[in-house]
Amino acid sequence: MDHFCYLDGILHAEQVSLETVAGEYGTPTYVYSASAFADGFHEFDKALAGLDHQVCYAMKANSNQAILRLLADLGSGFDAVSGGEIARAKAAGVDGARIVFSGVGKTREEMRLALEGDVRQFNVESEPELLALDEVARSMGKKATIAFRVNPDVDARTHHKISTGKSENKFGIPIARARDAYRMAATLPGIRIAGLDMHIGSQITSLEPYERSFAIAAEFLGILRSDGHEITRMDLGGGLGVAHGNEEDSVPSPAEYCSLVRRMFGKLDCEIEIEPGRRIAGNSGILLSTVLYVKKGHNRSFLVLDAAMNDLIRPAMYDAYHEIVPVRQPADEAKRFRVDIVGPVCETGDTFARGRVLPFVAANDRVAFRTAGAYGAVMASEYNTRPIAAEVLVRGDLSAAIRNRESLDTVIGRDLIPTWL
Ligand code: LLP
Repeated sequence: MDHFCYLDGILHAEQVSLETVAGEYGTPTYVYSASAFADGFHEFDKALAGLDHQVCYAMKANSNQAILRLLADLGSGFDAVSGGEIARAKAAGVDGARIVFSGVGKTREEMRLALEGDVRQFNVESEPELLALDEVARSMGKKATIAFRVNPDVDARTHHKISTGKSENKFGIPIARARDAYRMAATLPGIRIAGLDMHIGSQITSLEPYERSFAIAAEFLGILRSDGHEITRMDLGGGLGVAHGNEEDSVPSPAEYCSLVRRMFGKLDCEIEIEPGRRIAGNSGILLSTVLYVKKGHNRSFLVLDAAMNDLIRPAMYDAYHEIVPVRQPADEAKRFRVDIVGPVCETGDTFARGRVLPFVAANDRVAFRTAGAYGAVMASEYNTRPIAAEVLVRGDLSAAIRNRESLDTVIGRDLIPTWL
């Protein structure tokens, strides 16, 4: 169900008018629907019912503590990729036993923090990382529970910047070396082997790459067990894509994805972990922005918004498509125009869409970027000394700021000018 719909001619988040949100909190502002997050989590969790499983929401997609608390209360676990994310999950009240620690470059300090926090599992990505983890764990008189992230050399057929499962990518241990890595891990006193991990990429829009990587994982699980390792967990990573409104093909549903998981691993007697991020968060948020100017160029028109690439970098970074809709519902017969939709940042890369056909909007009108709940706010920067946008959470007719707009004083006050200058 879409939780961002027109009611009485105004786009709403659940029952809250986005005009009201813009008036109260200003723009640009990210607005999230609590019900959409809950639906996103349940779609996976319910589809795996009856299987021993843990959904570990990839918090990098949206790590606001209000979102973490909301999901934790529903029973979600979390996939964290830095000491910062672990600390953030803890601050939101998440128990370490529900946190999986992934990432290709964990520092010893982060390992220590994770061990102190009794995280559920480290997903280890290389032999040197394993040795460092063993050392840190032993120095603390602890054992680190691990899974190796294995690189299956499968093409997820997604944007090259978010593909992770091919042999040329920096992620995971090549499958040809993984048996030796497990053998080594079994000899280390600071390490306890628990599972096997794979994550092949993000915004995956077909089940076919999953089918291939799952087959490789299932076979390798058998090999590890025949080598005498006790493998009780299978972490399948995340990556299921969302529809952005422009795809010709439909994107597989969590139910279809989970039925594949069940078919491939249902009888293998292991706990299934999955790490969806985008599919839970993506369509749970929009970015609300105000039109500053409608500007005529030489042979094209520009819609200049108050949101920019520092607020939502996905179009500039991945050529991502985001549907952009007026907050005031246009009449069916409303005039349409073709525009380039841009932000105020001083580079041409600050372009959200080229030649987009939109119902006519004017200065001071509001627009919403759809599918902005994942990898939106978390990737924001202060480029051009633009304060980080506010974030608002809605549930039913309730709304609350879950992050205040950063003040200019905070942004500027961080710089230090040495006394000797
Ligand atoms: N697990 C691991 C180990 C990951 O690296 C990721 C995402 C996920 C789970 C969650 O993947 P998801 O279900 O969200 O696709 N900034 C990019 C996306 C980067 C994804 C990085 N890893 C974007 O805006 O498209």
